[in-house]
Formats: sequence, C-alpha cells, structure tokens
Amino acid sequence: MLIVTRLDELRSARSLLDGKLGLVPTMGYLHEGHISLVRRAKAECDYVAVSIFVNPTQFGPNEDLAKYPRDLDRDLHLLEDAGVDLVWTPTPEVMYPSGFQTWVEVEEMTRPLEGAQRPGHFRGVTTVVTKLFNAVQPTKAYFGQKDAQQAAVIRRMTEDLNFPIEIVVCPIVREPDGLAMSSRNIYLDAHQRKAATVLYRSLSAAKEEYEKGERDAEKLRRKMKEVIASEPLAQMQYVSCADYDTLQELEKVTGKTLLSMAVFFGKTRLIDNFVLE
Ligand code: PAF
Repeated sequence: MLIVTRLDELRSARSLLDGKLGLVPTMGYLHEGHISLVRRAKAECDYVAVSIFVNPTQFGPNEDLAKYPRDLDRDLHLLEDAGVDLVWTPTPEVMYPSGFQTWVEVEEMTRPLEGAQRPGHFRGVTTVVTKLFNAVQPTKAYFGQKDAQQAAVIRRMTEDLNFPIEIVVCPIVREPDGLAMSSRNIYLDAHQRKAATVLYRSLSAAKEEYEKGERDAEKLRRKMKEVIASEPLAQMQYVSCADYDTLQELEKVTGKTLLSMAVFFGKTRLIDNFVLE
C-alpha cells in the first residue's frame, strides 16, 4: 500500500494505476462503514484509493473540528488489511493553498435539512470532493447512505459538472442494536449510547406505519417525533420526510422517499435515515 501526502506524489502514483480506480473519500477515524465502502470498491475496480483529510471548510465555527477524532496509524493498518492500493493524506496547505478563493456550490438541494442547520457545510464538502476528484481522477467514487443529503448533493454535482465518475452510494452499516456507525459515536457516554438507539427506533416506527399503508408525510414525521420525545436524553433537531432526489418536504408519499433526522445527545449530534422505496 502506497501512502502519499504531496500532490506531485499522488499524481505520479496515480499515473501508474492503469485500470479502473475506485476512490473512497474519508475524514479518517475509520470504522466498519468506511471499510464496507472499500470492500465494494475492491469488488468493482482494479485498484482502490482512499483519501484521509479532515476538511476544515465543512465544519462550522461552533462545530467539532479541533476535537474531531483522529488516529492515522490505526486507519492505515485497517486500510492495509482491507487491501487498499493507495492512500492520500493531504495537508490543509495542499487542499487550501494560500490565497485560496475558489468554491464549488450546489444550490437548492443544499438548503434544507443538514444545510439549514449547518450553513456553509455543503460548500466545504462539494469543494473538497471536487478537488479530490480532480487530483485522483477515479473511475468510481464511493459514499455512504448515512450522509444521505451529501450523497444526493454529490450525485447532482457530478452530473452538473460532467465529471466522468460513477457515484456509488452504499448502505448504512449499523451496530447490532441499530445505531448507525459514525466516527462521532465515540463522544457518547454509556447512557447516551443506549439512548442513541432512538434514531433507529423512530425510523423503524415510521417505516412500520408506511408499510401498514400510511402515506401522509406529516403523520410519518409526527410518529418519528413521538418516539424521539419518549427518550429523555434525546434533543430532536429536525425530522424529515422528503423526496429522495430533490430533498423537498412531502405532503403525500408517492415515490422514493427519504426519512431522516438529526438528534443531539448532550453536545453530540447524530444523523440517520431510512429510504422508503
Ligand atoms: O463524508 C465524509 O467523510 C466527508 O464529508 C467527505 C466526503 C470525505 C468530504 O470531506
């Protein structure tokens, strides 16, 4: 496994990989969710590259950039074991050279949900992902369904900017009790960790209503809110029942639909979602 930091090193390493290249962009502190993306990339491509970069521009001023968990040695071991060919660990100076002032922005789709709660977040994501795509030039790029809006925004951006890259969105990987895997789960204390299953429970409750025939989106949102409210340690930020592609809130569920939510446990903010087909 080749590990590079500088852009010129990345470019020469890339030029030696002749065949389909799968890219898994990450911010490190890897878990089974990331490794499932690597596995999928390995199954579909000749080579797999992983980027590890905690991207400062996607964190708001009150978010957890400084204390975002990092463990590069552990990450590299996991990637080596998973059979990755190339790891790129750029520095902030490589990604944001002095005088940097060029941004990539997706408009409407970034306004609701996460975008409403985290102003500027998606501008940071789409800019850094564009830079990763330009530098690595992958055939396919792999993202998790856990960040449902991010995946939808990146699909839109790839189409809008004519990147010759196939975006592959992979299923959420969950703990045995249903909690979606996330690097932020380590911030939860034992009580919060137990309470955090409420995201999965409330999504499951709404899905159950849907399966019984409920198509009123407001009733599905109400169901999710009710279950979250039953958990004293959970502080709901939003719940949503939106169109899967446009992310606009629905009145009636007719096609592919995204149920999603953000919930605080103390200072830790968790997100989760289900797709209704
Ligand atoms: O999902 C993430 O880990 C990040 O948002 C990404 C896509 C690597 C961009 O920094």
